Amino acid sequence: MAKRDFLSIQDLSLEELENLLALATRMKSRRTASMPLTGKTLGLIFYNKSLRTRVSFEVAMEQLGGQSVNLSVGLDLWQTEAEEGVAMDGIAAEHVKDAAKVMSRYLDAIAVRKFPTWRSFEEDRADRTIRAYARYADVPVINLESCTEHPCQALADLLTLRETTGDLAGKKLTLAWTFHPVPLSMAVSNSLLLAATRFGMDVTLATPEGYPLADDVIEQSRQNAAATSSGRVNIVHDLDAGLADAQFVYGDSWISIPHYGTDRDTELRERYRSWCLDTKKMQHTANAYLLHPLPVRRNVAVTDEVLDGPRSLIYTQAENRLHAQKALLTTLIR
Ligand code: CP
Repeated sequence: MAKRDFLSIQDLSLEELENLLALATRMKSRRTASMPLTGKTLGLIFYNKSLRTRVSFEVAMEQLGGQSVNLSVGLDLWQTEAEEGVAMDGIAAEHVKDAAKVMSRYLDAIAVRKFPTWRSFEEDRADRTIRAYARYADVPVINLESCTEHPCQALADLLTLRETTGDLAGKKLTLAWTFHPVPLSMAVSNSLLLAATRFGMDVTLATPEGYPLADDVIEQSRQNAAATSSGRVNIVHDLDAGLADAQFVYGDSWISIPHYGTDRDTELRERYRSWCLDTKKMQHTANAYLLHPLPVRRNVAVTDEVLDGPRSLIYTQAENRLHAQKALLTTLIR
């Protein structure tokens, strides 16, 4: 049977997503006590830092009866090269091809986190490293957050939304850009937008001028929405207007594509320090729930009052990483 990778939230059919969410719900309520991954090992490869992703995957494997091997590139693992046919006379001591093929002999799945380098949008959006792992590995490859997507976060977000409101069709979600002092990728927002539109949510994307999401993601999200009877993608450049009547507000931040990796992005974002989700701004919503993938810059992106308030779902989202990933691992690993 061909291996299944999970690089994008689009990699699973709607039916597979439904089944996965149902399994995650059963696992969360501990209705499945079996250990389906006994004897299986997951490799976790981190090119970048993590709290939730690292811990939730390690605990998931343990609770499923398996184990994990956790490697940080540059610390426990050689620096890698992802390009084909290059002379490797720089810092990289190992090609991803060799790393992926060797690890496939030991492991039952490989999960990789690789953030942008910020040199160029075109280079980063190609996601060369994680795609190279997927190309060369003989076992499933899971995206732990690449330059373009964070599909495991989106699974947890879908689970959180579903258990809070039931059917997502027609529910109003505002994806709000918030100020962040340093650039972040669009990975979380891309996956959320793609996921929410597949379930027919009415999504408003509230971003300052100059902070679009990529055209291909918007186009795919609009196609996702069009395949439902209730899905919609609306883009506004005013935070108050974007929050109006929202039932769910998701705070995130990302770099300016037009000024990618330049000082201009740093200068421009300073103008948008007021894009902070505080109690006054949340009053524009329909008493919305607040979601955020974490980590969050408190009182910069979202205020303490909102993060710690009764409508905050941030810790449930973080917990749901565990349950959603247990369902994912059980589905992918054979
Ligand atoms: N949300 C998330 O992926 O958290 P970490 O970066 O801490 O893993």
